[in-house]
Amino acid sequence: MGKSLIVYYSFEGNTEFAARTLAKHIGAYVERIIPLKQPPKKGFGKFFWGGKSVVMKERPVLEPLQREITEFDNIIIGFPIWAGSYPPAIYSFTKDYPFSGKNCYIIACSSSGNAKKAIAKITERLSGNKIIDTLSLIDPAKNKEKNEKLVIAFADKNFDKAEAAYKEPEPEPEPEYDNEESAEDDDTIEFSETEEITDN
Ligand SMILES: Cc1cc2nc3c(=O)[nH]c(=O)nc-3n(C[C@H](O)[C@H](O)[C@H](O)COP(=O)(O)O)c2cc1C
Repeated sequence: MGKSLIVYYSFEGNTEFAARTLAKHIGAYVERIIPLKQPPKKGFGKFFWGGKSVVMKERPVLEPLQREITEFDNIIIGFPIWAGSYPPAIYSFTKDYPFSGKNCYIIACSSSGNAKKAIAKITERLSGNKIIDTLSLIDPAKNKEKNEKLVIAFADKNFDKAEAAYKEPEPEPEPEYDNEESAEDDDTIEFSETEEITDN
C-alpha cells in the first residue's frame, strides 16, 4: 500500500474536518496548505475575493510544507470548490511541489455537491499521476456524523491502517488578515445541487 500523505487546503474548516477524519482513520501524515494571505472570512466579500482569485488565476505564496512529497506513494488532496474549480492555493501547491507517478485521491468539498468540473480540472492538473478515487462531500463540518461515515467508507475502500503517523495538531492561532472587512454577517450563498454526492 505504501505511505500516504494527506495535503489539504481549507478556508472554513470543512475540508479540514474531512482530512483529519481520514487521517485519524488510516493513520496518515497530514499537511495543511497555508497561504500567507487569506481572503476575509466574514461577509459576502469572501466569495468575491476567492472567486476572483480563481478567475484571475492568482498563485498565492504558501508557507513551506514540513514533509517531502517524494517520501510518499499515495497523495490525498483535499480542497473546497471555489468558483467551480480548485482554489488557487492548491494550484500553488502543485506548482511549488511538482510530483508524478503517485497514486492520487481527491476529496472535494462544496456546498452544492457539484464536484465534477473541479475534479476534472484537478485531474488535468495532476496529469502524470494516477487518480485512484475521488470523494465529493457537501459542507462536511456542518453534518459531521453523516460525513464521517462517508469518509470512513472511502478510507476502508482505499486504504489499510498500516501506518500510525497521525498526530492531533497543535491548536492554530487565528491568522490575521490584512484585508479584514467590517462585514455584516450575510455570508451565505446558494450553489445549485445537480450531481451525486460521490464521483467515482
Ligand atoms: C470563494 C468561495 C467560492 C465558492 N465556490 C463554490 C462553488 O463554485 N460551488 C460550490 O458548490 N460551493 C462553493 N463554495 C462553497 C465551499 O466550496 C464549501 O462551503 C466548502 O465545504 C468549504 O470548504 P472549507 O470549509 O474547507 O473551506 C465556495 C466558497 C467560497 C469561500
